[in-house]
Amino acid sequence: MRVHPTEKRWFVIAVLLVALMIGVILYTAVGMHIHPPSNVEAIDSTRLHLTREFAEDNLGVRREKDGTVVARIVMARFHVEPQEITLPAGAPIVVRAASADVLHGLNVAGTNIGTQVVPGYVSEVRTTINFDSVARLGVANADGSVTVPLFCNEYCGLGHQSMWGRVRVTRK
Ligand code: CUA
Repeated sequence: MRVHPTEKRWFVIAVLLVALMIGVILYTAVGMHIHPPSNVEAIDSTRLHLTREFAEDNLGVRREKDGTVVARIVMARFHVEPQEITLPAGAPIVVRAASADVLHGLNVAGTNIGTQVVPGYVSEVRTTINFDSVARLGVANADGSVTVPLFCNEYCGLGHQSMWGRVRVTRK
């Protein structure tokens, strides 16, 4: 069977494009350490308030003994708890979030904190915040810190658009 030259050319181009895309994925994963959040940890979303970790008085930001800053957040229609958290730029940060009802998304402008918050699971993001990249997008405060919004970016119902909070980023 004879293959038309144009068809052959496009076959080669398509194979090269696939190879290029796989190359980009490998390069960003291995060279730039960019990975999707991959924590798998189950939790009973209907009983979050009864767990030790996601009980109301345990939410917010805490610094662990090893210097890691851990932020615990509960997302529920149509609210983010706590409404505002403070995170230091440059420090190792762990964000742990749980949904009390349906699928939500958690996205902090100017950072690579972005994950789905799936009911029944704990979402965990490990990152370090770059002060300059939040400063470009956020609102400067009198004390030198910058406030950026934290959005729910998965449609979760009629109040989805009002589901947001604030992250105050301090210079270390
Ligand atoms: Cu929660 Cu949209």
